[in-house]
Amino acid sequence: MVAAHVYKTIDALPVDAHPMTQFTTGVMALQVESEFQKAYDNGLPKSKFWEPTYEDCLNLIARLPPVASYVYRRIFKSGKSIEADNSLDYAANFSHMLGFDDPKMLELMRLYVTIHTDHEGGNVSAHTGHLVGSALSDPYLSFAAALNGLAGPLHGLANQEVLLWIKSVIEETGSGVTTDQLKDYVWKTLKSGKVVPGFGHGVLRKTDPRYSCQREFALKHLPKDPLFQLVSKLYEVVPPILTELGKVKNPWPNVDAHSGVLLNHFGLSEARYYTVLFGVSRSMGIGSQLIWDRALGLPLERPKSVTM
Ligand code: MLT
Repeated sequence: MVAAHVYKTIDALPVDAHPMTQFTTGVMALQVESEFQKAYDNGLPKSKFWEPTYEDCLNLIARLPPVASYVYRRIFKSGKSIEADNSLDYAANFSHMLGFDDPKMLELMRLYVTIHTDHEGGNVSAHTGHLVGSALSDPYLSFAAALNGLAGPLHGLANQEVLLWIKSVIEETGSGVTTDQLKDYVWKTLKSGKVVPGFGHGVLRKTDPRYSCQREFALKHLPKDPLFQLVSKLYEVVPPILTELGKVKNPWPNVDAHSGVLLNHFGLSEARYYTVLFGVSRSMGIGSQLIWDRALGLPLERPKSVTM
């Protein structure tokens, strides 16, 4: 259950505040129920820190879908919330509360949540969760910090940017875009000093496997969708251009290059919301990492600072 004050706190924000701001505010409002903080204040020994961390992470993960769907319905569906259906699994129930019950959309949400759960510890959100948690900030505080990292356009917000960019291609060229028109548009984007969102990655040096499994889903369920066909064309057009540019270590598409067109196909077309879906999913990776951090008694993280 989510306490009423959480929704009231979100309601205090302007309805057009970015969905990530509303979501993270909801997470901060959930924090008042932290078991870790209570136990710490009561003198819990270090060897037992992992126990209330575990409780907090389970509570947090369980409460995110109602909070996230409340944000979605508040902004895009005139505030009409949908009750949870506890006969459904986690991802399907989340989709249901958002207002999407098509069985294929439920399956998509299962895929979506699974592939966004974690991506080892070095990405901005996972690392931030670990860093803030190393100060013994409880899981709510640590996860809210991680979400603020995820909200950056070079990290989780890229999934929003991709769909907006794809729609801008269609606006400029019309729906029957040719390969040459697409190449021109990619060059235009790069020459204006911007990146092609959804391509490249900090550590991957090949097509992101999370891209590939979404592509498989699309080939199976929506092969004729015009936006999917455009995404497919980009897969052919963008990597050679980025390679020609010479500066890019990885010209291949990443997870964000694909997710928007799938969600859009099933009616979840509000790109500004996409990073919230990413955030809900990543709670499982960050939460499990925090439990291990406390179980292993990992120390405060304090990198050496170097004068520049
Ligand atoms: C992620 O899933 O966090 C992204 O692929 C970014 C990264 O791993 O650095």
